[in-house]
Amino acid sequence: MKHFIENLPKAELHLHIEGTFEPELMFAIAQRNAIAIKYKSIEEIKAAYQFDCLQDFLDIYYQGAGVLITEKDFYDLTYSYLQKCAAQNVRHTEIMFDPQTHTERGISFETVITGISKACNDAKENLGVSSLLIMSYLRHLSEEDAFKTLQQSLPFKHLIAAVGLDSSEKGNPPSKFQQVFEASVKEGYIPLAHAGEEGPAEYVWEALDILKIKRIDHGNNSLQDEALVKEIIRRDIALTVCPLSNTALQVVDNLKNHPLKKMMGIGLKVTINSDDPAYFGGQVNQNFIAIQEALQLTKNDLYELAKNSFQYSLLDTVAKQQYLDELDNYYKDNI
Ligand code: HPA
Ligand code: ZN
Repeated sequence: MKHFIENLPKAELHLHIEGTFEPELMFAIAQRNAIAIKYKSIEEIKAAYQFDCLQDFLDIYYQGAGVLITEKDFYDLTYSYLQKCAAQNVRHTEIMFDPQTHTERGISFETVITGISKACNDAKENLGVSSLLIMSYLRHLSEEDAFKTLQQSLPFKHLIAAVGLDSSEKGNPPSKFQQVFEASVKEGYIPLAHAGEEGPAEYVWEALDILKIKRIDHGNNSLQDEALVKEIIRRDIALTVCPLSNTALQVVDNLKNHPLKKMMGIGLKVTINSDDPAYFGGQVNQNFIAIQEALQLTKNDLYELAKNSFQYSLLDTVAKQQYLDELDNYYKDNI
């Protein structure tokens, strides 16, 4: 199974680039930028990665991102993640980035997007990994602030496929961002959002009906509302599930109790993702391996999950089909 998973062609659809910041690289970049960080060693950083909830994690995650200053920093961060994609047979990835985490500190939007997108271009060329970018608005900030970010993004619109919504969910419902999402869609961005991770099913309804999202990040709490589940299936919208994130942030108490198999059983389209791999203990393949073991998933289940990852990506139909053919060939040869 491990071998089958490692070689399985797949896409990653829920990944925060700031969440790929491994302690080793964080130390190196902090040092070259002469920024003091409060941890004295890599071990100390790792020991701090114990979370009771989403907010605990976010506090540490925003601190870590604070050492990123130059275009090269963003390039190195992104390229390092894309190398891991290549090693795991992640053929395509849709990368979220949080511009406000950086623009708030005086880093220009241009620096962030240029570093990230150059790494994506180089990875396509050198590693054969394709990628698209998702600009995520921070929901703990105001809608006005999100509008500023939208404005800053416009000169770089050709580099960005979609908008997302992340950060502290409780108390920050999707409806808070109705207008900026409408404006983003007018600019050609595809609307996506985190919903139902810690927030209630009602937030998932809002994300669907008010923000008109095309994919739900997490969405675990959708299961609490039968009518919502039916509607998600009717609209053919996928949930990007993140097993190790769910246990790290105590959204799920134990992987054995993870609702993934239930989701699949009732007809929801789900994918497996790492969310913030440097913080939650594993890249996408480790997420696959852990959930396969916990829920005794079959090769056919794994194939289904990989198929969804291409099917519900934001790629055009031609590119999707190429990856789906590659996956089908792999499955036929390895069943
Ligand atoms: N949820 C909300 N915001 C985030 C996450 C998450 O899982 N990861 C990074 N920002
Ligand atoms: Zn996320």
